[in-house]
This record gives sequence, C-alpha cells and structure tokens, in this order.
Amino acid sequence: MVDIHNIELQKLNLLEKGFLDINIDITLDLFAEIEKLKREKNAIILAHYYQEPDIQDIADYIGDSLGLSQKAASTDADIIVFAGVHFMAETAKILNPNKKVLLPDLRAGCSLSDSAPPEKFKIFKDQHPDHLVISYINCSAGMKALSDIICTSSNAQKIVESLPIEQPIIFAPDKNLGAFINKKTGRNMLLWNGSCMVHEIFSEEKITKLKIRHPHALLIAHPECEESILALADYIGSTTGLLQFAETHPSKTFIVATESGILHQMQKNCPDKIFIPAPPNNQCACNDCPYMKLNTLEKLYLCMKYELPEITMDEELRIAAKKPIDRMLAISAQYGL
Ligand code: 13P
Ligand code: SF4
Repeated sequence: MVDIHNIELQKLNLLEKGFLDINIDITLDLFAEIEKLKREKNAIILAHYYQEPDIQDIADYIGDSLGLSQKAASTDADIIVFAGVHFMAETAKILNPNKKVLLPDLRAGCSLSDSAPPEKFKIFKDQHPDHLVISYINCSAGMKALSDIICTSSNAQKIVESLPIEQPIIFAPDKNLGAFINKKTGRNMLLWNGSCMVHEIFSEEKITKLKIRHPHALLIAHPECEESILALADYIGSTTGLLQFAETHPSKTFIVATESGILHQMQKNCPDKIFIPAPPNNQCACNDCPYMKLNTLEKLYLCMKYELPEITMDEELRIAAKKPIDRMLAISAQYGL
C-alpha cells in the first residue's frame, strides 16, 4: 500500500516527472477500479481516438478534437479526466474553470502545438495587423489568446467560409491543414510554418506500393498529412470523418493515413472490414503519436484516485483563450457540426 508521505512526495515531484509514479498491485482489476472511481467522484473520462485501446474502452466519450471540446463544454461531471494531450485538457479547463480537469501524464504535449510559441507568433501577427487569426485547436492557451477564432479539422472549412472572401486571414499553426483549406476554399490564407510530427512522416513510396498490392483499398487521410499524401487520398477528413467514412462506405479495405490508435474503433465498429495502417518513413509499420501514448491505464487509474496531475491556469489567460473557442463552438452549432 502507498502511504500518505509517499503521495506528498509524489506531489512535490509531479512538476518534474509529469505523472504519479506509484506501484500498483498487479492483481487489481483496473477497469473495475476506474468504473468505481468514476461513480464515487462523478468523473467523466473523455478520450481521443489516438489513445491506447484499453483507455478507449473505459472512456465515457471518445471523439475528435471538436467532439471532445463540445462534450467538455456540456458535461455536468465534477471532474473531467482527459485522456488525450495537454492542449485538449487545457481547452476543457478553459471551458470549465470551476471543474477539476485531470491529465494522466502532464508530459503529453504536441509537436504541432510546440511549433507555435506565442511570443514568436505575436511578432508575426503584429506584422499583419489587418489579418484575422484562425488557429487550429492544437495550440497552447497562449496561442488561443492571440487568435480570433479556433477551428478543428472537422470545422476548419466552414469556419474559414464563414468569413467574407476579402478578409485577410492568418492560419496557424498547421501549414498542411492550412494549405488543404486554402485549396478547398480558394482562399490565400497566410500560413504559419508548423506541422505534426506524426502526420508529416508518412511515406509516399510505401503507400503507393501498398495501393498497388491492394488495388481495391481506399486511402483515407487526415488533413494534417503533407500535400503529396493527400493527393493520393480517396477521402480526407478529421478522425471522426475518417471513422464515419469507413463505416458507411461499401469498400471492404482501407489504408489509413493517420495515427494508428483510430484503427481500434474502426475495427470494433466494422469487424468485417480490413484496415491497414499507412506506413511512415522509418522502420515502423504504423504511426503512433509518442505524446498520446504517454497515457496508460495505470496512469489513468492513479490520476483518478489521487486527482493529480491537475490542469491549472491563470484566469486572465483563460478568459482571453475562451473567446475564440466560444466563437468556434457558436459557428459549429450554427452549421449543425
Ligand atoms: P482530430 O481528432 O480533431 O481530427 O485531430 C487529430 C489530431 O492530431 C489530434 O491531435
Ligand atoms: Fe500533436 Fe500530432 Fe500527436 Fe496530434 S498526433 S497530438 S497533432 S503530435
């Protein structure tokens, strides 16, 4: 058993470590324990599709970034346990200042979010005072506070199209999603030079070979992928979009160009279909996000038991970061997204 001194020590170490590092009795049924904690604490587990299968299976809600932020905005739970990465948990906190928001491992960051440090972005923004800033939700609270509207891959096109055609726009931080939306809408948004380490390393050559080997397979891709990969795709969409396409399209085989965690739901929802992860440009057969995969069932259990690590935020920053998220949620509701 863990004594209280150990927990106090763990709290002190948390900032450095990012997660509670406590041995768990290996005979413990973590699924049953987590269910019990959910009931006792009126907690909700929100999980992204890129989480490991066990976490997806115990979650109360699994979704893409838009669905997760909508769920975070509407929940009446007292504690939100975010099985995802930091910017997602931070968004939940921005929307719920009076609720406790927990993230199993504070080190679960995001390369895309890191590619836009607010201080650097502010200089760029100040050079273009006539531009509105649309930022992809994969960014820090500091970036959100510098933005006019937030978007996700599910609603980016509709959000851009909701602005007058003559309105100059800066799109940050994902240059691939920005270029894709420019192409779809005929706009010429200024793009910040950021990208996701997972989606930019798919191999065009290996995917082309896979397509030749599986001539009836459809390539479905996330818009964070590079243009050369998107050019090969039969369908492009957010993680929810990809899942819905796979569920409803009559095709039996799909090559999936996004983080491999989504294959768990695809396989679960379509047991008679074949899903092949698109290979990256390295020695691995599929593509995992190292940040998303920092969360484990053990860390999820510990974080619910001890209510740590918790997301906290400066109130002034929270209020500034909430405005563009509220705008996104309002536009999405208007379009029934
Ligand atoms: P969506 O789930 O919104 O498509 O985003 C993908 C992603 O990279 C999340 O980090
Ligand atoms: Fe960030 Fe990419 Fe990981 Fe999503 S998959 S959390 S965008 S690094």
